[in-house]
Amino acid sequence: MHKDVEKILVSEEVIQHRIDGLAKKVLEKGEDNIMIVVLLKGALVFAADLFRRMPVMLDLECLNVSSYHGGMESSGVVKFLDNTMPNFEGKRVVVVDDIYDTGLTMKSVCDKIEKSGALSVESCVLLAKDKKHDVEYEPDYVGFTIGDEFVIGYGLDYKGKYRNLPYIGVLKEEAI
Ligand code: IMP
Ligand code: MG
Repeated sequence: MHKDVEKILVSEEVIQHRIDGLAKKVLEKGEDNIMIVVLLKGALVFAADLFRRMPVMLDLECLNVSSYHGGMESSGVVKFLDNTMPNFEGKRVVVVDDIYDTGLTMKSVCDKIEKSGALSVESCVLLAKDKKHDVEYEPDYVGFTIGDEFVIGYGLDYKGKYRNLPYIGVLKEEAI
């Protein structure tokens, strides 16, 4: 375990097993016209494991969005950092993010893609915080529901660090 980690919330093994199930669920709904849209940078690790479990023809796109700006709380504003957007027309878009917190990021992204001519838009998150979200929206696929606490690892960062840990963990007080 990393020296800054207080406890492991979800182990590498448990994450990997759960992703098998998530990939299956997405494919059960259909295998055609899938476009995976990865929200950078947090969802990079999760999306890489998820879409490698989908042995079908699919498209992959990334969107650069930012709401936390490196700290421990949502700024309340979702920034789209790309100059151009992918072509979503005729696609069954599956937006992939690391964690569903206030819900603002996923809701903003899905709304935007829906207005851009996608066939349909679904959302898939590894984690969802068990709290009252700021928006009326529920992700379609959730890996794990966790308490309302700040977590790092498996793509999730604190000030840009810890994304490379293979598990989801909680930081020690002294590391913050
Ligand atoms: P939302 O817009 O509040 O739902 O926040 C979603 C984004 O905030 C995620 O894509 C993460 O990048 C970031 N985030 C939310 N909670 C955490 C956390 O506990 N640790 C690290 N990043 C988080
Ligand atoms: Mg993020």
